[in-house]
Amino acid sequence: MNKHEQYRLNQLGEYPFARLKKLLDGLTPNPDLELIDAGAGEPRLPMPTFVQPTLDAHIAGFSKYPTTSGNDFLRESIAAWLKRRFSLKNIDANSQVLSANGTREALFAAAHALINPNTETKPWVMMPNPMYQIYLGAAITAGGKPYLQPCTQDTGFAPDIDNISDDIWADTALVYVCSPSNPTGWVADEAYYTKLLALAEKFDFYVLADECYSEIYYADKPVGLLEVAQNMENIEYKRCLVMNSLSKRSALPGLRSGLIAGDADLIQNFSKLRSYTGPGTPLPLQHVAAAAWHDEEHVQQHLKVYRDSLDAFFKVYGGVIPAGSFFVWLPVENEEDFVKRAYVEQGVKLLPGSYLGSEDDKGINAGTGYVRAALVDGAEKAGVLAERLKRVAV
Ligand SMILES: Cc1ncc(COP(=O)(O)O)c(C=O)c1O
Repeated sequence: MNKHEQYRLNQLGEYPFARLKKLLDGLTPNPDLELIDAGAGEPRLPMPTFVQPTLDAHIAGFSKYPTTSGNDFLRESIAAWLKRRFSLKNIDANSQVLSANGTREALFAAAHALINPNTETKPWVMMPNPMYQIYLGAAITAGGKPYLQPCTQDTGFAPDIDNISDDIWADTALVYVCSPSNPTGWVADEAYYTKLLALAEKFDFYVLADECYSEIYYADKPVGLLEVAQNMENIEYKRCLVMNSLSKRSALPGLRSGLIAGDADLIQNFSKLRSYTGPGTPLPLQHVAAAAWHDEEHVQQHLKVYRDSLDAFFKVYGGVIPAGSFFVWLPVENEEDFVKRAYVEQGVKLLPGSYLGSEDDKGINAGTGYVRAALVDGAEKAGVLAERLKRVAV
């Protein structure tokens, strides 16, 4: 065996968007229709009005190094938002909050900061299947073993935590939860998080909640992991980390700004890792981020657009409106075939569900038989999208 063959990176498949590009390579979208790109989860809403003036006012900050954990003013604005949004009595901006350059890097780095691969058997890192692929990449490259929790219609798209043996829990280091979920739209309720946190305490593992869609929901505001911990009298948020982001909440994916919050010990580990990897957020961008966490008006405006989009889509397409996120997860017979037809016949870009899943030990990829569409272009286009997809479906 060649000395390079066992690279952990070699165990990772191609990223879903690279696979999509290959799938559609050589095909032409219907030239008579305006292309609707519902493949990627990139919000396309007007930029909040405070962005430009805040950037202008703090432009000189580009000539200074930012701190890697986020400057005080940003961590304080994040802590204040967490308190308001999740009714937290205490969250210390110094020891329980970090700034991140979006949640993607933080979700990836988390596994590297928190799991110890130097055990005889690799520890389990649990994650939903289908999932945001970063969890899988993080688990593998950090030396963990991915444990895939099938999220299917049978489980109401919840990652199963009821049928896992004590032996598995005992060897689990970290559980990724995505609520609201990309791609299924499932949202964890208080009972789910309570059960998971009780297991985390019993078996001593960490829970990492990716809550970056927490401000995008149809009916009820999603509950957050930290508020459930507080309700369980875990007021120091032991074993809990949450990640959130301005990419979805404020429609600022290019700002690359997010947050990490929770257990001070875990934050300290994380902070140490980051002091070596050094991903500081430029100061002017930190100021824009702080302004965004302080403002709720634009968030409410965005929420209305997402709700109207869901209404417009489901009025035409039919089916059950997802509880959270701006994705719709549609059952189809053959997802790659459907995606190709949607592109060629109807000028619509979608993502095959199987690209967001992975085969489990039973050979089942829980994303098979679905396509994902992102409703990110407003209500009118969401309605048009539904009409076009209905035509593919028949
Ligand atoms: C579930 C989920 N988590 C995290 C992210 C990362 O977002 P960002 O790095 O922009 O915060 C995304 C982006 O699509 C996502 O869908």
